[in-house]
Amino acid sequence: MAFREELSAAHGDRVHISPQDECGLLDLAPWLETPDPGTKVYCCGPAPLLAAVELACAAWPPYSLRTERTAGALPEPVHQTAFEVELRRTGRTVTVMPDTSVLHAIRQVGADVLSSCEQGTCGTCLTPVLEGTPDHRDSILADHERAANDCMLPCVSRSRGDRLVLDL
Ligand code: FES
Repeated sequence: MAFREELSAAHGDRVHISPQDECGLLDLAPWLETPDPGTKVYCCGPAPLLAAVELACAAWPPYSLRTERTAGALPEPVHQTAFEVELRRTGRTVTVMPDTSVLHAIRQVGADVLSSCEQGTCGTCLTPVLEGTPDHRDSILADHERAANDCMLPCVSRSRGDRLVLDL
């Protein structure tokens, strides 16, 4: 809502404003009931809206939907002790202590990974995983992306095992 004037100026009648207090809950079906392989869906907002959009997009092609959540309390890590992270391309390995994020640990050995929110909500630090199983604690990845275990958000996510190998 803060950018509605700029959006309307730039995109005219392609912008639809639907305040809940005036229009009620957003009717998602007209927008999302038919998957469109050429369209990306971006959604941020309260958890019930995100859940409804995820459900409505269940039949859409993988990676069509991007959600952004406000940070909530992080779940407890699966692996409560230290683990190792290998940076395969640079040949460095670092021990991640329980009180340190993977992002901070790998930066200490020279990894050049951009970050912004550092709360698992923006996606800036997305990093490819080559081996190991991340403990996904972010609010970005969809279920099928978590299940693939081929990337992680190292600002908040950790390891389910003793070792991760990252493509860094
Ligand atoms: Fe935002 Fe990691 S810095 S998700």
